Amino acid sequence: MHQLLSQDEIRDAIERLAGQLRAKYGQRPLTIVGILTGSLVMLADLIRRLDMPLRVAVIQARAPREKPTGRAALVIDDKLLATVAGRDVLVVDDIFDTGRTLVDALAHLAEHRPASVRTAVLLRKIGRCEVAIVPDHVMFDIPDEFVVGYGLDYDDRYRNLPFVAALDSGDLAPN
Ligand code: IMP
Ligand code: MG
Repeated sequence: MHQLLSQDEIRDAIERLAGQLRAKYGQRPLTIVGILTGSLVMLADLIRRLDMPLRVAVIQARAPREKPTGRAALVIDDKLLATVAGRDVLVVDDIFDTGRTLVDALAHLAEHRPASVRTAVLLRKIGRCEVAIVPDHVMFDIPDEFVVGYGLDYDDRYRNLPFVAALDSGDLAPN
């Protein structure tokens, strides 16, 4: 594999995003909704940089490539999503690839009547978008390569790498 983003670059980008969120929301209460499992690391780093009154909820997504329909399967805890009604919401995901996961998540959230919804992603793959939305915050645009690390997986591996790397063909052997 070859590194695309260093730990320092990611840390600086998280700090920039936190600054933008502090400027946008001030001390207004915010609900952050993380799309798991990929956003786990970003979520943990981001929320510790925010100081407004904060709630955290999660949506579990199964990668679309694991399903014949090509749509993301979302598993939603309704009790957690009660923290969405009437509140400002920020949806956080690891990567905006086709954009379908985020669109599906936004459709579910809309049913819970949030006061506002914005979106933030760590990565966006250039030239892959298949939907009409654009994330409000994109930390890095990357080439169309398969990436792992900082929460992103290949077959549930590599999430624990502290940097983001693109896989080479030799990395794809089962382990
Ligand atoms: P989308 O619905 O096509 O935008 O896909 C988003 C989801 O697919 C992400 O939340 C990831 O779980 C997964 N995904 C897409 N590209 C990659 C990648 O390069 N590495 C790891 N996961 C990826
Ligand atoms: Mg994911």
